[in-house]
Amino acid sequence: MAAERPPMIIRPCFQQDLEYVQLIYAHHVLSGAGTFEIEPPSLEEMTERWSRIVDKGWPFLVASPLSDLSRVLGFAYAVQYRDRAAYSKTFESSVYVGPTTQRQGAGALLMSELLTSLRSDGVREVLAFIGDSYNAGSIGLHKKLGFNVVGKLENVGEKHGRVLDVVIMQRTLPPPKA
Ligand SMILES: CC(C)(COP(=O)(O)OP(=O)(O)OC[C@H]1O[C@@H](n2cnc3c(N)ncnc32)[C@H](O)[C@@H]1OP(=O)(O)O)[C@@H](O)C(=O)NCCC(=O)NCCS
Repeated sequence: MAAERPPMIIRPCFQQDLEYVQLIYAHHVLSGAGTFEIEPPSLEEMTERWSRIVDKGWPFLVASPLSDLSRVLGFAYAVQYRDRAAYSKTFESSVYVGPTTQRQGAGALLMSELLTSLRSDGVREVLAFIGDSYNAGSIGLHKKLGFNVVGKLENVGEKHGRVLDVVIMQRTLPPPKA
């Protein structure tokens, strides 16, 4: 059964949130297969990654409990899929929720807000590259948000002694509201 859902808000990620972001991401790097990084990036490296995204005006969001807006339960961001200009309306999304907050709605709220933001920026296609065919949480979340599986890269990763696929999921957004 799903755990109780604490009230939370989705808001932009500020620099002071990045310690939480780094810790949440480090947990998933070390214990999961959703990301193919093996070594957790430092806070400095996460700050550089965050800067590169927000400096371009791309969305980087966090979920916070309403009871303490300085805490971060999870985060999501999107970047243009590839640099070449013809890809300007195709973005790649990522979402991570802390281990003690999973299945409480944060991932769905983050992704829903991320898609709203991308749509208002005129993005048309959103791709998610999900590490591990057995990543039920991420595949389930993206299905719930209207993504479809459009492909699978087989056996492209190796982590924790397992050979891993990448599942590619895609969601087409409606045109921006007038
Ligand atoms: C994927 C992830 C972000 C989901 O976040 P979450 O806050 O736990 O998800 P939510 O509580 O919002 O769940 C939304 C829906 O996703 C699906 N879902 C979430 N976890 C699931 C699981 N373990 N198994 C099956 N479906 C799941 C369900 O449809 C769920 O809706 P429901 O609770 O009403 O049934 C989280 O599990 C996570 O951080 N995973 C590891 C990192 C990762 O793989 N990120 C993706 C890389 S792009």
